Amino acid sequence: MTIQQVGIIGAGTMGHALALVHALGGCRVRLHDANDEVLAKAPGLIKAACASLVEAGEIDQTQADAALAQISCTAALAEAVSEADLVVEAVVEQADVKTRVFAAIDQAAPAGAIIASNTSYLDIFPLVPAARQARTLIAHWYTPPYIIDLVDIAAGPETAADVLVEMEALYRGFGKQPIRFERLIPGYIANRLQAALNLECLRMIDEGWATAVDIDRAVRHGLASRLATLGHMKKMDYTDLRMSQNGLASRMYTPPEHKGGSAVLARMIADGHTGVRAGRGFYDYGDATPEDLFKARDAKLIKLKHFMKTLEEEDSL
Ligand SMILES: NC(=O)c1ccc[n+]([C@@H]2O[C@H](COP(=O)([O-])OP(=O)(O)OC[C@H]3O[C@@H](n4cnc5c(N)ncnc54)[C@H](O)[C@@H]3O)[C@@H](O)[C@H]2O)c1
Repeated sequence: MTIQQVGIIGAGTMGHALALVHALGGCRVRLHDANDEVLAKAPGLIKAACASLVEAGEIDQTQADAALAQISCTAALAEAVSEADLVVEAVVEQADVKTRVFAAIDQAAPAGAIIASNTSYLDIFPLVPAARQARTLIAHWYTPPYIIDLVDIAAGPETAADVLVEMEALYRGFGKQPIRFERLIPGYIANRLQAALNLECLRMIDEGWATAVDIDRAVRHGLASRLATLGHMKKMDYTDLRMSQNGLASRMYTPPEHKGGSAVLARMIADGHTGVRAGRGFYDYGDATPEDLFKARDAKLIKLKHFMKTLEEEDSL
């Protein structure tokens, strides 16, 4: 089966960006959202993301124009999926909403369509109609997916093996970095590691052991450069595995107790300091608009990605 027509359900943070990813990969895309305002904003956001990619030299204007021409928006879910080879589900992370959306996809999509959910934490498989189980899987992306290449591809209990292989090949063909999971591992790899990091960083702040700025200095100037160049397991090889064994034996690190919350997060959220979109989180963003901040972040991510590609080329020597 060749995947040419893609229906994307949900046009929020992930959905509009996934429309661009699939269009850049050469697919025709129909994007749908239940909220008209979100849908109306999507083309502008997609154009802005495209402009960032062109500015950074990731793609040229001809590629950008070709991708933009492949995307259309529709207020009718059935229209988005009626001719789809692949349906990407990117609606809010709520089981009841996803259940309704899977039922609507089941009603309108061709019987042979693949359904890929972008869920972060839910086991979506019990929410999917029985007849669709064999061609449903999770394809979980990281924001912004038109820059970050990792995509977790996870099978449900009944997902056909060839569907998993086909989706892995599709995204590899897009130039992405799919990781295949034969069964659902909660949090996949990267989100699981990120969850452990979140727990420890917030514990250090809650306990008054470190500030947010200290933690970011340690991450950026200590951890990040080594992780970016080697990954984590190869870094262990370079350090010597006996160091890792000694570290485990000495128990210098005790995992934080899971309290189900963080005092500093509760305080900041109550104060409305919820992050970049609010102008303030752990840092104060002054007068900078969220659009400018995200654009600047994207530009830095693309520069780093380009540089990492040159390192990978050296690796293969
Ligand atoms: N934001 C991230 O960084 C991120 C990363 C990876 C995966 N995800 C996952 O992707 C999914 C979407 O997340 P998001 O961050 O884009 O959320 P979002 O809130 O930005 O967008 C979700 C969209 O779903 C729409 N929606 C709700 N009910 C709908 C329905 N019945 N039919 C059609 N559209 C409907 C909403 O109007 C909204 O625009 C979630 O499952 C989330 O866990 C998010």
